[in-house]
Amino acid sequence: MKPIHVPALTLLLAAGLTAVACGGDKAAAPAPAKSATQPAAAPAALDPKDVAEATQIFATRCFTCHGAGGKGDGPGSAGLTPQPRDLTSPEWQASVTDEHIEKIVLYGGAAVGLSPMMPPNPDFMSKPGLVRALRAHIRGLAPAH
Ligand code: HEC
Repeated sequence: MKPIHVPALTLLLAAGLTAVACGGDKAAAPAPAKSATQPAAAPAALDPKDVAEATQIFATRCFTCHGAGGKGDGPGSAGLTPQPRDLTSPEWQASVTDEHIEKIVLYGGAAVGLSPMMPPNPDFMSKPGLVRALRAHIRGLAPAH
């Protein structure tokens, strides 16, 4: 009777192992891929110095195309195709993530599939606080202005 028991046990073991292996694969597969660049952390508080610098930069650098209030009516906007959109639009505000805004400010329009007429700002590379403050500034643009 021995020659029968051994193969039966082997089959059972093999089946059991296969089941465990499959279960293991299924459990591992849906693990959400965390973004390597943006760990999910609580948003850091804005430094007042960054807020002041962001306000100043928007009023001087971004203003040229976007206008002081972000409506896309800056003195340099006339010749631009496409025109910068109205950043005060609640629909646009709701359609974009903070990450999108920070990315276009830092890397320019081309980096997010938009026009390269929106220039990158490589000098902000070493100033993540300033980039966050500029994003907050954009988030705070009100339709009334
Ligand atoms: C030389 C002109 C110019 C300057 C200067 C400029 N932008 Fe832009 N920006 C544009 C144009 C043009 C677009 C529209 C791109 C498109 O819709 O394809 C744009 C788009 C944007 C958008 C909207 C992205 C979207 O999803 O539609 C944001 C936000 C933005 N710019 C922020 C800034 C900030 C902040 C600054 C200053 C640091 C700045 N821009 C400076 C031309 C400019």
